[in-house]
Amino acid sequence: MKKILITGGAGFIGSHVVRLFVTKYPNYQIINVDKLTYAGNLANLKDIENKPNYSFIKGDIVDAAFISELFSIHTFDSVIHLAAESHVDRSISNPLEFVMTNVIGTVNLLNAAKNEWKDNFSAHRFYHVSTDEVYGTLGETGLFTETTAYDPHSPYSASKASSDHFVRAYHDTYGMDAVISNCSNNYGSHHFPEKLIPLSILNIKNNKSIPIYGKGENIRDWLYVEDHARAIDVIFHNAKTGATFNIGGHNEWTNIDLIHLLCKIMDKKLNRADGESAKLITFVKDRAGHDLRYAIDSSKLQNELGWVPSLQFEEGLEKTVDWYLSNEDWLNNVTSGDYQKYYEVQYTKR
Ligand code: NAD
Ligand code: DAU
Repeated sequence: MKKILITGGAGFIGSHVVRLFVTKYPNYQIINVDKLTYAGNLANLKDIENKPNYSFIKGDIVDAAFISELFSIHTFDSVIHLAAESHVDRSISNPLEFVMTNVIGTVNLLNAAKNEWKDNFSAHRFYHVSTDEVYGTLGETGLFTETTAYDPHSPYSASKASSDHFVRAYHDTYGMDAVISNCSNNYGSHHFPEKLIPLSILNIKNNKSIPIYGKGENIRDWLYVEDHARAIDVIFHNAKTGATFNIGGHNEWTNIDLIHLLCKIMDKKLNRADGESAKLITFVKDRAGHDLRYAIDSSKLQNELGWVPSLQFEEGLEKTVDWYLSNEDWLNNVTSGDYQKYYEVQYTKR
């Protein structure tokens, strides 16, 4: 039985990756290690928590002693590393936390993997899940490819860029079998409501204003989270050692157009008059260093490994809205406590 460590499996994308691997590969033992920060939630994995090939260990990847012991106890075959601080706005107010988890945490994992695997690197794989934000921002045209130069602007993207460099360094210097993927913006169920789409769904539902940074002209390339999880599966099993793959949906939206579409869906779902939810749109102070446009060229992944996104955005967004409207307990749970404090500082006092 293959033993695979998945870090950050209680988070948004991690929980979808854990679910896919646990259900698709009953012959893999999946061990999910997660610190359960504000963004980690074991309720995300309720449906698979009792599966015989799944277990959870609470732990912090910044704790080198814990990570080293974990690797010596478990003799993992491979690692899929998703644990991270992931929200750009939080990185602007607390950059050091991002250096600790995203950089030091990643290097701790690399060191532990190197020590355990050094006599037979080819039998083990270190898969690092990264972001398109490492490439910086695009103008009105062009796409990020795997050879686009790194040019991060936020503390979040700088920390992810640094972690990518460390992963490549362990491949080039020590011969570790490492692969990296850089994905565009994900959306779907279990997304913490600090990010644009779930935050807007929550606010529309509660008749609260929808905060749009600047003029809403920034562009993101949205991908359904289950398509990202499928891409990780395909890359993990088929990529050549040292490879990098971009993952994206060819699905660019300005924030304001996206929110208008979301408002239309919400009007329908909540039996409101057309245009009712859109009245909640409020333009607020822009994010510092706000990247204008992200857009991914995922042709390498499509041509070499045959992956294609499965859902049209309108369909995926409607499915996402349905999930939030029928999972009120989940929403209430994640928005109790510290969320209200965060919201006040981020949106009232900015
Ligand atoms: P998330 O914030 O929803 O989840 C992160 C998870 O990591 C949480 O469960 C949290 O508890 C855990 N974690 C944080 N610090 C930890 C630590 N020190 N030790 C152990 N666990 C810790 O993030 P997400 O959106 O699911 O992103 C997952 C990964 O995918 C990240 O590496 C992120 O950079 C990358 N990514 C995200 C997106 C996106 O659109 N969300 C796109 C591309 C890449
Ligand atoms: O591109 C991949 C990245 O996508 C991931 O690496 C990050 O982990 C993930 O958080 C996401 O980053 P963004 O900054 O693009 O996502 P966010 O949902 O925070 O913002 C999307 C866009 O919406 C962005 O242009 C900022 C804007 N925005 C965001 C929030 C939270 C608003 O206008 N208002 C808001 O309240």
